[in-house]
Amino acid sequence: MDSRLKSFVSPEILSREGYTPGFQPKGKGNLIKLNTNENPFPPSPLVANAVLEQTQRLQFYPNPSSHKLRNLIAETHELQEEQVIVGNGSDDILNLCVRAFSDSTRSVGMLNPSYSLYPTLTSLQGSKLEQVEFSDDQFDLPVEKIISSGVNLFFLTNPHAPSGLSFPQHKILEILNRLDAILVVDEAYADFSTKSSISFLEYVDNLIITRTFSKSYSLAGARVGYAFSTPRIIEVLDSVREVYNVDRMSQAAAFAALSDKEYFEDCKSKIISERSKAHEFLTRLGWRTVESQANFILTEPVTKGGKAGKIVAKSLFDYLEKHDIFVRYFPNHRLTESKIRISIGTEKQMTTLFQNINNWQNENS
Ligand SMILES: Cc1ncc(COP(=O)(O)O)c(C=O)c1O
Repeated sequence: MDSRLKSFVSPEILSREGYTPGFQPKGKGNLIKLNTNENPFPPSPLVANAVLEQTQRLQFYPNPSSHKLRNLIAETHELQEEQVIVGNGSDDILNLCVRAFSDSTRSVGMLNPSYSLYPTLTSLQGSKLEQVEFSDDQFDLPVEKIISSGVNLFFLTNPHAPSGLSFPQHKILEILNRLDAILVVDEAYADFSTKSSISFLEYVDNLIITRTFSKSYSLAGARVGYAFSTPRIIEVLDSVREVYNVDRMSQAAAFAALSDKEYFEDCKSKIISERSKAHEFLTRLGWRTVESQANFILTEPVTKGGKAGKIVAKSLFDYLEKHDIFVRYFPNHRLTESKIRISIGTEKQMTTLFQNINNWQNENS
């Protein structure tokens, strides 16, 4: 950037690091993309018609509050429409939380490691960030550290990413009861889990639960997320939302996907079944693998000779990439540096992955 332009840009913006999205490999071919927790199946067949219909009405603005979709989401989860907000992906809603509940004196907290967008949003708002570390390598929820973090807004990813672990519900309730702050439970992956914090909404006034159509409804490309909370908190979030934050086609796509329960259940059960098979395969190899409640699995690769660690994990990551299989490697934290994260794919994709893992082991003693 030249110095004249630099002089126009806010120093806070110049000094911050932007968010790095998961790698999107180029080319179609036979790539196996298991790196960004997308759904391996296309969206419900009802989605295409719903979107096409809206293309005939693109001269009109969309409904500003995504009214019909809010209503269906509320009905699906047995909540009031006033308890629901819809966003341009759940990222949009996470941003609204930061915008409404943090500033230079009201800080934001998160678990480290967890979703790396939280620091980006926090720095854009000019708020301070507290990263709470896990006390052990089992991703045990550090309840006391969260409660005493002194923040105004805390992001708790559950099921946790990148481990896939689902935290005990009684611990989340304890945090809600004792934390003098807003707790955002980011349930981006909750549809693949048997647990949710939705029932807590009846008892507490400081909970926001964020969800997404990106993962379980195969609509990552349409960018639709939503959140549940108290009507008062929803009102606050609505007051800082862009007016037309979700376009016509995306509102219709999400509505159609949510209406097709049979398709949703079918895709979900295929993914959960492949996740069990992956867990079984990896533990049979003797690899420490987290019991995931999400659509991905975190595992620690070990060579035939029994070696594990950073170099080993990177070696498998590179080997798979060379064979057109893309997984995720997070070298920047002690809890992830010796592991790789694999998004759950179709049966065919997973079989190819397992074959490649076997080949890598045979070539690496
Ligand atoms: C924990 C978590 N929250 C939120 C999101 C963002 O989801 P969306 O596509 O709805 O913005 C992701 C995406 O990977 C995620 O991992």
